[in-house]
Amino acid sequence: MNQISNSGAERLQRRMARGAAFLGSEIAVMGGAMSWVSERNLVAAISNAGGFGVIACGAMTPELLDAEIAGTKALTSKPFGVNLITMHPQLFDLIAVCAKHEVGHVVLAGGLPPAGSLDAIKGNGARLICFAPALALAKKLIRSGVDALVVEGMEAGGHIGPVSTSVLAQEILPEVAEQVPVFVAGGIGRGAAIAGYLDMGAAGVQLGTRFVCATESIAHANFKKAFIRASARDAIASVQIDPRLPVIPVRALKNAGGELFTAKQREVAQALDEGKVEMAEAQLQIEHYWAGALRRAVIDGDVEHGSVMAGQSVGMVTKEEPVAAILAQLMDEAAHALEKRVA
Ligand SMILES: Cc1cc2nc3c(=O)[nH]c(=O)nc-3n(C[C@H](O)[C@H](O)[C@H](O)COP(=O)(O)O)c2cc1C
Repeated sequence: MNQISNSGAERLQRRMARGAAFLGSEIAVMGGAMSWVSERNLVAAISNAGGFGVIACGAMTPELLDAEIAGTKALTSKPFGVNLITMHPQLFDLIAVCAKHEVGHVVLAGGLPPAGSLDAIKGNGARLICFAPALALAKKLIRSGVDALVVEGMEAGGHIGPVSTSVLAQEILPEVAEQVPVFVAGGIGRGAAIAGYLDMGAAGVQLGTRFVCATESIAHANFKKAFIRASARDAIASVQIDPRLPVIPVRALKNAGGELFTAKQREVAQALDEGKVEMAEAQLQIEHYWAGALRRAVIDGDVEHGSVMAGQSVGMVTKEEPVAAILAQLMDEAAHALEKRVA
């Protein structure tokens, strides 16, 4: 019988083996796509350091995505993924761009895969990863042929659902983790949490907030400074002011931009009242607002009026450091936590 070694590092490797094999990476840690932040430099750095970087397509045109994928390939020969937003009006053109570059993994965000998109992505030979915000949806996504799931709780930065990561993990992992690899996201700042979710059956994890201040991240110095200064309680969820205008909450650092969002909601709700816009258009206006506000903070460095999307783990971001150092620390912490386990 082979002797199974039980050092923390080996336990960690065993627990991440399935997720890493699925991603084609050394470790089962995905760098969650962050609009404006997850471009070629950060994505390539994460993949080069053994993790799995994911390009955030956001509102990019197919031409821009084409250039971003090519740029990323120039910086890494390791696998990486592309995150597409389901509402994008040119979703199928973006899928074709991914196919042209033989992108191995497509992450679909923003709701259930629209008709035909799953077949288009999988027909091109890519693996499809979707977000599962509830157990029933996780089961439905698996039935429809999705290859892996991300379970993301409300501690995360950016657009969030109403339920915490710990509760979603407890509800979803025991039911579906044997069927497809499940990656847990939201609020992960230390390796001990990674070890915990792996023990619960996760194939791996996805982190966003923790990578924003990486040396390789192109986020504006002001954006990084805001992260380094902030504590968990500064990362608050946006508030919906009008029950007729359902807006998906966004978690971001508290600033004057929050007030601007309230004003924007009032403006859009009034336009809705006056019959000047339809509901779909009203919601699209809100999404465009976020994209612009995030760009203003990430790229222009206006962290007062822009949107500084950040998760509650922001308090554990204390300095700018290379991606490799961030991942090494997380893996050390996870291995250390597992070292203490009985088996
Ligand atoms: C600044 C920022 C922008 C984000 N943009 C996107 C996005 O465009 N698409 C997406 O699917 N998720 C987006 N996210 C969520 C991340 O991909 C990831 O799932 C999340 O950050 C994980 O939680 P954490 O922030 O607690 O680590 C964003 C998160 C942040 C912090």
